[in-house]
Amino acid sequence: MTGKIGSEKIYLFDSTLRDGEQTPGARLNYEEKLEVARQLARLGVDIIEAGFPVSSPGEKKAVRDIAREVKGPVICGLARAVQGDIDAAWEAVREAERPRIHVFLGASDIHMEHKLKKDPHLLMEQAVEAVKYAGRFTSDIEYSPEDATRAREEYLYELLEAVIKAGATTINIPDTVGYAVPEEFGALIGRLRENVPGMDKVIISVHCHDDLGMAVANSLEAVKNGARQIECNINGIGERAGNAALEEIAVALRIRQNHFSYYTDLNFSEIYRTSRLVSKLTGIAVPVNKAVVGLNAFAHSSGIHQDGILKNKETYEIIDAELIGGKAAQMCLTARSGRHAVMDQLNKLNFSLTPGQLETIYGYFVELADKKKEVYPEDIEALVLDHLSFTEPRYKLDYLQTISGSTSIPAAIVRLKKEDGGTIEEVAIGAGPIDAAYNAINKITGLSIGLDNYRLNAVTQGRDALGEVQVEMSYQDRTITGRGTSTDIIEASVKSYLNGLNKLLRINGDGETRK
Ligand code: KIV
Ligand code: ZN
Repeated sequence: MTGKIGSEKIYLFDSTLRDGEQTPGARLNYEEKLEVARQLARLGVDIIEAGFPVSSPGEKKAVRDIAREVKGPVICGLARAVQGDIDAAWEAVREAERPRIHVFLGASDIHMEHKLKKDPHLLMEQAVEAVKYAGRFTSDIEYSPEDATRAREEYLYELLEAVIKAGATTINIPDTVGYAVPEEFGALIGRLRENVPGMDKVIISVHCHDDLGMAVANSLEAVKNGARQIECNINGIGERAGNAALEEIAVALRIRQNHFSYYTDLNFSEIYRTSRLVSKLTGIAVPVNKAVVGLNAFAHSSGIHQDGILKNKETYEIIDAELIGGKAAQMCLTARSGRHAVMDQLNKLNFSLTPGQLETIYGYFVELADKKKEVYPEDIEALVLDHLSFTEPRYKLDYLQTISGSTSIPAAIVRLKKEDGGTIEEVAIGAGPIDAAYNAINKITGLSIGLDNYRLNAVTQGRDALGEVQVEMSYQDRTITGRGTSTDIIEASVKSYLNGLNKLLRINGDGETRK
């Protein structure tokens, strides 16, 4: 059976804490499991498979505490088709608002013959007994015929009919080894719906691994053929190549609603946060080019793309970053970025340049981008401040006199010339003549600027050496550098301070290059 079934809800079954935790190296401790579970509840998944309780006492305790604390989603525990596993799963999930036991047993000939080494009919009986046993505890029972995509179909029909009769309410079809391809997998789901009596009374679920990179496509094709629950993990982590990525499935269903016409109850704006949390706690990095949550998923590098995006986001973007709680489109400026993208960055930095100034900065930008792979907003800001020297400084030094000596209090008289030609003069004292001069300048501007660093170098030799002073100044949350030279080190100090001050005034919007 193919085609749309209607506008129905798709249940998202998250197995990040079970199959996801089977990712090599992704072990989570007790606290981390709880933190992920709380976030999954915020994300709005329908079912959390919190773990495999029989596997260790620590795992059981974590599942039990998730079941106790996390409200909203169904809390599920995994169990092999044996009583000990089912007991452990039930003890762990019993305090949940809505507990579920998930029983699985190999169903392919390869698994039955080589791994389980048992007759298929005995294994079928074992599956039925296990489901009946789980039914003593709860009516919410999920059954998975492991390796279903490589199982004999006739055997699957018989097995699934029997476990449904025994009480299973969700039938999950795992593509355990990621062997299926979409058309074939969808068709299998369709045939199971048609040929297994009782299949219309249960929720059909799918659990796809990504060995051939088709886990998401297989899951979506299954939905088109009648599956209503998808098992998936945050960032697609999971055994070997991982499982279908939850965020990709949810966003695909949402963005291509015109194609799928199903919905989920996910809080989309929590996707990005959840992805980052899982990555941080498991230590499994999100590939930069990963669909939906990769760092580059909303970055545009080519000049043609950047230009298109600036004109209309829809030219090269189908997902709004805000939908998933991520950051808005990032322009990563590179040698391929055009004037339009550089101008956009300048606007964001609040610079308003004339066409001539823009050309100058663009020329420096191209030079810089050739050396540096990526050019950041701070680089653009530095280019403007360093190269737009034709921008008139707000204040120039007009007159300076300082008093110092072993018996006198250091003082300075500073007169500054303003852009309009007028002058202002102030007198101040300080710890030394330079400090006094800086205090006088602060009195003139009315700004309380901090001096974080001061460096004096001789740039020429001899008694009349030219001194160069470099200062690092801070004002509010900004740090700025200034530079000045003179044969008089006090004058060089004042000039460097004024150089920094003039940059600061431009940045803060008082100067002519800022809007
Ligand atoms: O991949 C698989 O078959 C599983 C089952 C336990 C559902 O993880
Ligand atoms: Zn699996």
